[in-house]
Formats: sequence, C-alpha cells, structure tokens
Amino acid sequence: MQTNALLDHLASANPIFFWDPSKLEVERLCFHVDFKAGTLNVSSGVRNDILNNVFDGPGFSIIRVPNADQLTDNELEEVSHVLAGAFGALMPQNEAGDTFYRVQAKVSADRPEYRLSNTSGDTSMHTDCSYGDERPSAISLFCINPAVEGGESMIASGYRVLSEYAKSHHDNMSPLSRSYFYHRSHKRHADDEQVAEYRLLDVVNGTLSFRYKWPYIELGHKVKGVFLGENETHFFSSFETLANRADLVFRYPLKRGECLIGNNKWIFHNRAPYSDSPHAPKRLMIRHWIDSRTS
Ligand SMILES: [Fe+2]
Repeated sequence: MQTNALLDHLASANPIFFWDPSKLEVERLCFHVDFKAGTLNVSSGVRNDILNNVFDGPGFSIIRVPNADQLTDNELEEVSHVLAGAFGALMPQNEAGDTFYRVQAKVSADRPEYRLSNTSGDTSMHTDCSYGDERPSAISLFCINPAVEGGESMIASGYRVLSEYAKSHHDNMSPLSRSYFYHRSHKRHADDEQVAEYRLLDVVNGTLSFRYKWPYIELGHKVKGVFLGENETHFFSSFETLANRADLVFRYPLKRGECLIGNNKWIFHNRAPYSDSPHAPKRLMIRHWIDSRTS
C-alpha cells in the first residue's frame, strides 16, 4: 500500500480507532458473562457488544467470569475454551492442532529464546501470528493466575501509533509499504518454511492489517542474510518507541477469571515484565486464536 493511500485511509477511518488511553471508559469495555450450574452462557446481546468493540470500536474488551475464585485451575481453563469459542472458530496454534496455548514462563530471563511468550522479561508490542499464512482476526488471553508482581497487559491502537508516526516521521513512510522476512518462532504446519516473506501493513476489509513483531522481523532478516537499510532500521526503532509510549498504551492487570479479547489486525498487545514467586502459582494465561469473521 502506497503512502498516499495509507494517509487517505487514516483520514477516513472511524475516529474511535484512534483512542487515547486516558479517555477510555474502562467499565464500558468490561462485560460479565453468565456462569450458572457449571455452565457458561454468553448471551447474543453480550456477544454482539463485545464483537462490536473488537471490530468496530476501540478494538478490545475485557470479560469477567463470576466466581472464578471458586473454580479450580482446570475448571477455569475449560471455561476459557468455551468463552473463546463463543466468538468464532478457534484456530490451531501448532502442528498438533491444539487450539489453545498456555502462556507461561518456561525459560529464565538470562536464557532468552525465540518464543517470547515463554519468557517473563521484556518483550515487544506485536500482533499474534505475524509470521503465519492464516492469522486470527482476534485473540483472547484468559487469566488463570496473575503474576505476583508486574505482568499487566498492554494494549495500543495501531491506528493511533501509525497516525503519531505519520505526524513526526512523514519523511520516512516508505518502510510501511514493503514486505519483510519473518522468522517463525514455531511451525504450524510440518512443511512450513522457517522464514516467510509478508507485507508489514495492508488495508483488508476496510481496516488496517498489521503483521507487527519487530524481533521476528529482525531475526528473519538475519537468518535470511538480508540486511535492512538505514530507513527501515530507523523506522522500526521509532515505531517501536511510539508503540510503547506511555500516553499511547492502555495498561490493565488481568485478574483470575478475566479475559482480554482483542482485534489482532490493528491492536498491538504486550505484557509488562513480571516475576513469579515460589510461594504463589506461576503466572498463567490461556491464549486462543479466534477467526471471528467466519463464524
Ligand atoms: Fe501475543
């Protein structure tokens, strides 16, 4: 997509997509679902309101399951699957076809690995599955156990970040209009290549569609032996700084039984670094990839 077309899209996009974190009315983004006699029920009204927020509103919602403290971890994990499945088809996340993933630190901070979801240290703003042919339109992150310290969810609107970037870096817009090599942190299909080339940004079905995860792009180019130019290096550095700028990021500490559901095309997400404690359950989130538009 060329720069002029991109700027035209920003000029005509729904103003609500450009939200300011300090002006978000958080309670209006939160929903309770009905949970009685061991059965989760998501009414069509609540479902539609949530989907409207995710695709035609600020890009995300928070859902609370009542009485989560009275459920075991396993019961709550089952609830997370039912809840995510209420919003669309659950997509496989690995070669085995699992439609959920337990996000939990599995390596120490001084042994970083490419799969950033297994760490507790610094990570970057991103869209999920930026390296996949088929990407989820939405993701959900269901909190089984929060971290003892840190780990809050971080959300930024790609529309807001991009418009701020266009204002301050209008002389370096071309890196937004090209493709990059993405390293696949894990393969979803046995015959997947380790590195794949995709465009960073497009407009699909009337909205921005980012494949944004700088560490995987950086690694993809390194593995491929194709080095990024100065314009691109500056672009990613500036864009990443903006995507993390405090006044552009909404931070929310998910509690046990709360679920964040977010647009995966133009909402960037991340979590703050955190620490687990030997005296409390390890931080555990259940991630689902949701294909909402086909449901
Ligand atoms: Fe993610």
